[in-house]
Amino acid sequence: MDSLAAPAATGHALPVTIFLAVASIFFSVAVLSSLLKKRRVRSSSSSSSSSRRRIPSPSHGRGYEVFLSFRGPDTRTGFTDSLHLSLKDAGVDVFMDSEELHVGEDIGPELLDRIERLVSIDDNKRVVLRLLEVRKRDVRIIGFFGMGGIGKTTLAKVIYNEIMDDFDSCSFLKDIRETSSHLDGLKRLQSQLAKDLSRREYREFATTDEGTNELQHRFREKKVLVVLDDVDDNNQLEALVSVAWFGPGSRVIVTTRYKNVLSLNPEVLQYEVEGLRLYQSMELFCRHAFRMDSPKAELSDLSLAIVETTGGLPLALEVIGSYLCGKRKGIWEETLKKLEGKPHTKVQENLRISYDSLDSEHKEIFLDIACLFIGEDPGMLIYMWDDCKFYPRTGLDELILRSLVKIGEDGRLWMHDQLRDLGREIVRQKDVKEPGNRSRLWSNEEAITVLKEYKVRIQVRRC
Ligand SMILES: Nc1ncnc2c1ncn2[C@@H]1O[C@H](COP(=O)(O)OP(=O)(O)O)[C@@H](O)[C@H]1O
Ligand SMILES: [Mg+2]
Repeated sequence: MDSLAAPAATGHALPVTIFLAVASIFFSVAVLSSLLKKRRVRSSSSSSSSSRRRIPSPSHGRGYEVFLSFRGPDTRTGFTDSLHLSLKDAGVDVFMDSEELHVGEDIGPELLDRIERLVSIDDNKRVVLRLLEVRKRDVRIIGFFGMGGIGKTTLAKVIYNEIMDDFDSCSFLKDIRETSSHLDGLKRLQSQLAKDLSRREYREFATTDEGTNELQHRFREKKVLVVLDDVDDNNQLEALVSVAWFGPGSRVIVTTRYKNVLSLNPEVLQYEVEGLRLYQSMELFCRHAFRMDSPKAELSDLSLAIVETTGGLPLALEVIGSYLCGKRKGIWEETLKKLEGKPHTKVQENLRISYDSLDSEHKEIFLDIACLFIGEDPGMLIYMWDDCKFYPRTGLDELILRSLVKIGEDGRLWMHDQLRDLGREIVRQKDVKEPGNRSRLWSNEEAITVLKEYKVRIQVRRC
């Protein structure tokens, strides 16, 4: 589906066709801009979390650190058993269903309850809490850096929820990179931050300078906790936080894919988020590939080899595991070959394996979401995709099963930013130089430029 029809295709058409195309473009833009407006209102209210509201994150209750279980052929005397022994030797608290559950018993609520949590985030958490030292009265800014999908946002959420009670006010500003890429995005983020920290409505700042000035002076007496999630430019840091702006004991956490953004700012202490260890990676992969914590016997070697290619990146483990779930062995072997051909740092290329194998209609749905519909209600979109014959119910189910799309707690569409970037890059690659030739335009500014150029072209043709 072309959410915004590409005008360049009509370059040689008759005037009447041009008029119809323009009308349809304006209609699409109108629909799009009303969607975007709604989205903006929602995103400004949901782009942050303030005061005492905890950030929803996967549950991480107490229990064992690793769960070893098996279904199907008994592997307890082979792979599972030796893994179990090695883990115990390493001091890891292991739950093995041969000890704790009857053979072949379904995974019951007790086990499900315990595995519905993150694969150990404790290593990273321990180091960060030590760096933060929340009892100390100085002001600190800690920057988490690491590849997209390594777990920076998840770690920031877990830490935020854990320490928020120690502060007078808190703010979690998400998607800084995406929000700042829109006109007035930085100003909106400043207003949101001021609103969260003062815990009252703030009128939008007129300029970024006004916002910076207000943030500089307003919170000097307050002990605040601020998270800036997914920053990609030093000007975002400069407009939002500084050690001198906040009261004693304040803490700021910044997450970014780009270490150099942190290096440019001497106030920031840097922390590189570590990927999962091999046994943790295996567990996460198996949860998605087998819906349990250890591999099926006939796929255990392949599982291990695939897990090793991911470099402990949780997002890749999730997406590749979900893609392989229920697939025959030959597909697993092919996937391993593809993964071995690419370094794990090429995250998008690895995630693309799952995208490439989607039906063409479902690819369109994926691209629509990545470019235009993150944060939207899937209900109304289903009618549109139905009209395009994209089989949206099956499509959405498929995308969700593959962990390519998620439905948030608010019932709206959500996609990890690495997958969003992958989708947008696929569309951009259709014509890198000429946005007007692409199937979707997601930046307001770009859409307006394309439309203006198009109007000029029509006027020239009429003269
Ligand atoms: N310790 C973990 N255990 C299980 N899943 C994790 C863990 N850390 C991150 N994830 C999952 O991996 C994906 C990427 O994590 P995220 O925090 O969004 O990465 P980043 O912010 O670095 O791009 C998310 O779906 C998240 O739920
Ligand atoms: Mg993130």
